[in-house]
Amino acid sequence: MREYTPETITDAVLDQMSTTADPRLKEIMESAVRHLHAFAREVNLTPAEWIKGIEFMTRVGHMCSPARQEFILLSDTLGLSTLVNTLHDKTAVEEATHTSLLGPFFRESTPEFAAGEQIAKNDPSQEIVLWGKVTNVQGEPVPDAQVTVWQTASDGRYDMQTDPDSVDCRGIFRTDGEGRYLLRTVRPLGYYIPLDGPVGELVLAQGRHGMRPAHIHFLISAPGYRELVTALYLEGDAHLEDDVVFGASADLVAREEPSDPGCPLKGLPSVRFDFSLSREAEIDRLGGRVGADPAAVAGRGETAAPSPAAAE
Ligand code: BEZ
Ligand code: FE
Repeated sequence: MREYTPETITDAVLDQMSTTADPRLKEIMESAVRHLHAFAREVNLTPAEWIKGIEFMTRVGHMCSPARQEFILLSDTLGLSTLVNTLHDKTAVEEATHTSLLGPFFRESTPEFAAGEQIAKNDPSQEIVLWGKVTNVQGEPVPDAQVTVWQTASDGRYDMQTDPDSVDCRGIFRTDGEGRYLLRTVRPLGYYIPLDGPVGELVLAQGRHGMRPAHIHFLISAPGYRELVTALYLEGDAHLEDDVVFGASADLVAREEPSDPGCPLKGLPSVRFDFSLSREAEIDRLGGRVGADPAAVAGRGETAAPSPAAAE
């Protein structure tokens, strides 16, 4: 019979799991166990710390609802979401604009607008223009691409944070025949991620500020291309270098120009950014968006693992 020690327990678990039929599940769980055990050995994890971790994860689970995904927030603040996104970018068949976090404030139901319209309906602050092109990686225009935009109002709050039933500062546009998009909005403001749960407690215990720099989310899709989930970060924001969820990266920073002669709408400050899309590959057809709407995650996991009866 086996005797378990810190050195032998890992192989005992791997042996028992070796019957896993699904090769990808086997690969993922073997690696997870190896790393989890190595972590416990490295920090010499005590029973008190182990239960503290279990209690923490339990609280993270209790905080989840159709409106809030505390596990994704945990993943975001640990840099796991951005790691997964950067790995995803590497699997594109062409090097296109990089991914950034979808975040918890994306909504499938978003109003459609004509080019040049204002998406911020209840915000009297300074209008700005967002404009640019959607192209393939050769710089050729992608006409009729769907460009979904969402952001905070100028007070740093998303519509549903101000009023769960309101729809504002979000819109769907289409590129024209030359791949151009154009819209009016207001300047978004940086904001604190939700800090009133266990993830916020952890972030604050780590002495982190908990803020995101000002940004505008984009989801761009067109037939034959990989869907792009990304965001623009406004140059000059104090938190570009220390975004609490590691979404801001140098290649996604855009500058506001006071009066750009090239901007199609005159007399307004404007931000120009051109996006490039990678051709769609087999891996993209398997589905799976970068990030997830919390409402879509709630309840989804219930059918993920076979029940013991079904496995027999
Ligand atoms: C956001 O950009 O909306 C966001 C992303 C991650 C965590 C919280 C908010
Ligand atoms: Fe955001």
